[in-house]
Amino acid sequence: MCGIIGVTGADVPLDVLLGGLRLLEYRGYDSAGVALVALPGDDGSTASLWRRRSAVRAQSIAELESSREAAPRARTGIGHTRWATHGAATEANAHPHTDCSGEVAVVHNGIIENHRKLAARLVAAGHLLASETDSEVVAHLVEDELALGAGLAEAARRVAGELQGDFAIAVAYAREPETLAAVRRTSPLIVGRTGTLGVVASDIAAVLGTTRDLYALGDDQVAEVRPGSLSVSDLAGNPVDPRPVRVSWGVRAAQREGYEDFMSKEIHEQPRALTDTLLGRLHPDGATEFEELSLGEEVLGAIDRVLVVGCGSSYHASQVGRLAIERWAKLPATAEIASEFRYEDPVLDGRSLVIAVSQSGETADTYHALREARRRGATTLAVTNVVDSLMAREADGVLYTRAGPEIGVASTKCHVSQLVLLQAFALHLARLRSTLDADEASRLATGLAALPELVARALGKSEQYGAVAARIVEANDVFFLGRNVGYTIAQEGALKLKELAYVRAEAYAAGEMKHGPISLIDRNAVALVVVTRGALLEKLLANVEELRARGATVLALADEGDKETSALADLVLEVPPTEELLSPAVAVVPLQLLAYQIARTRGNDVDRPRNLAKVVTVE
Ligand code: AGP
Repeated sequence: MCGIIGVTGADVPLDVLLGGLRLLEYRGYDSAGVALVALPGDDGSTASLWRRRSAVRAQSIAELESSREAAPRARTGIGHTRWATHGAATEANAHPHTDCSGEVAVVHNGIIENHRKLAARLVAAGHLLASETDSEVVAHLVEDELALGAGLAEAARRVAGELQGDFAIAVAYAREPETLAAVRRTSPLIVGRTGTLGVVASDIAAVLGTTRDLYALGDDQVAEVRPGSLSVSDLAGNPVDPRPVRVSWGVRAAQREGYEDFMSKEIHEQPRALTDTLLGRLHPDGATEFEELSLGEEVLGAIDRVLVVGCGSSYHASQVGRLAIERWAKLPATAEIASEFRYEDPVLDGRSLVIAVSQSGETADTYHALREARRRGATTLAVTNVVDSLMAREADGVLYTRAGPEIGVASTKCHVSQLVLLQAFALHLARLRSTLDADEASRLATGLAALPELVARALGKSEQYGAVAARIVEANDVFFLGRNVGYTIAQEGALKLKELAYVRAEAYAAGEMKHGPISLIDRNAVALVVVTRGALLEKLLANVEELRARGATVLALADEGDKETSALADLVLEVPPTEELLSPAVAVVPLQLLAYQIARTRGNDVDRPRNLAKVVTVE
């Protein structure tokens, strides 16, 4: 997720751009850049573009600030703060990107799915691409349309019609120094004005200090923004009335886009994070495509065992990945706690694939486990949310979740993105090893592709989950039980309740209770049983009976319409049904919301829970 901003009609556009980028930094901070349309000089020189970019992560905007003195007279400009998805976090990949003439500048948030085909066509036509990004193709496509005589807004309309994927784009053009063009599909884009200015931004936070006369562009709508005026059309050029945005927030709330805190915002961003993570990688027939993987079929085809390594929520995702790899790719696979793995003297070789799963890509335990695996000759793969992170650089191959920056310390949208990315990779291995037939692969791909919608439906039940939270808010000791896939869900649910609500919550394999822990069950006990409707259903229902027989309050997480479980449990958290092995991404939603609601009731800081850090860089 990146942040874009544009302004026209400003006496000092750089002020508006840099101030807005500061307020967009929470959307990504790998790099930042600005481009100004320098006004014609007194010496008769024509208008031109002036661009500055910086890729020093959180210092990038500060570095741009230092170039103020060199800025030309201008009234129009665009800016960008980047969360890398395609291409390393380097200055060459930083936005704004320009065309060959250097007269067109573009900033983009989203993923252009057909960028490689477009780039090949542009290069064949003689364009020189200067970056590894998908976004740069837009500048060159606009250049071609302008060369055909289109104005900036018309050029933007024509180019938008060629793009596939999600995008929010702002374009500046040296020969139209008082105009910006903006176009969006799925990625958010706001346009606005005052009597003398026109603005474009990814979200309200960036321009709230400039104007509240704001409008949200709809899909495939193009805005022509000029000082004090803006006109919106569809891709055919038909005028459209944009939707006004009513703003009752302050800036901080605007960064949370109206949510109380980043935790609830990120829980609700999960459908989008899943969509972005799967975009362009999974096809309906089960075929998979990972352009950044760099582990070829020969290497992957020789793998004879897989070890999936992580910490915390990433370890829980690792367990699901391990189950999918074993079940679909028929490869021996284990999930390993990183801090244990590296001291277990693991026997590895080049046919061992060690997958390091890490949102930050910087966790010390996981990073050292990865290094130990490499030292012992294993083939390594990093699954991470941060392009160019330590692990991304260290591993032989990398796969990126595309959840955007996760600000809340407790992992939610990154965790579910890890789940689906690991499952898509398991599908990739299965296809390589021909261990799934075409129908099975297609069925699983369809199931994966349906997860964003199912997660959105589960989020729609947050009222129901809140009612359950109210019933157990006083509990100080909760058992989370499940079997097989359900046990991985139980572990993540227990962790969320611990780290957000500070409740002692322990996850057990439900079959283990009778081997000791059931001695703890009495009338004060609260147990949450993850009732996945697979082959183990009867055993899970028997576990529920055992708990009830000893007086425990039993909550059940169950599929919608599961009457058997509802008849037995005291309270039910219903989730939309899906294939059992795909269910963790959906089943974890009520558990996140349960922990969140209880934490809020207890007055906890849900974005920064006590004693925790977002990245644990110590062992
Ligand atoms: C998850 O909610 C926790 N914040 C924590 O367990 C986290 O998953 C763990 O520290 C691993 O972090 P990583 O994914 O950045 O490696």
